[in-house]
Amino acid sequence: MKIRAATSVCVVTIGLALLLIACGSSDFDGGDSKYPINVGSEIVAAGAEIYAQNCVACHGDNTQRPLLPAAPPHTVDGHTWHHQDRLIVEWILDGVPLAQVMPKFRDILTEDEAISALAYIKTFWPDDVVDIQTEGSLQYEKQLAEFGDLP
Ligand code: HEC
Repeated sequence: MKIRAATSVCVVTIGLALLLIACGSSDFDGGDSKYPINVGSEIVAAGAEIYAQNCVACHGDNTQRPLLPAAPPHTVDGHTWHHQDRLIVEWILDGVPLAQVMPKFRDILTEDEAISALAYIKTFWPDDVVDIQTEGSLQYEKQLAEFGDLP
């Protein structure tokens, strides 16, 4: 009798432990979120066109410095890569914080088009910078999922 009780306590304990391990290790995969963005050759090609029509005139690209001095370059010399995907896309659509010149693109581009433009901008960055920025974007999404709205 005692042995049977001890065995069931054991089984329950192991069961709980497995459950905890399963929960704790469940990797955040972004669910059906668009962020961090998926960079594929198709959206990069679409993004190159969107960028040429809407952005290059001020920001330049990986071959030319910004034509408007106030516009930061999107290359690794600028600071776009310091920010997370979701925020960059929000800024493109709804305005960069404290911006004085940068237009809002909400009425001009869809969210997917802004994502494509960002996918193209990422081709300006070296691989290690892309990795760091993608990891930052992923961490941001994890925190959003866990804590809700972030500042
Ligand atoms: C009329 C010029 C102009 C155009 C067109 C423009 N920008 Fe900007 N952008 C700026 C300026 C200037 C800033 C710096 C903030 C300010 O004072 O407006 C800026 C800031 C930004 C920032 C925030 C700074 C950073 O690098 O993180 C992002 C992101 C950005 N622009 C992306 C874009 C994208 C993508 C497009 C095209 C869809 C675009 N911009 C089109 C002028 C422009």
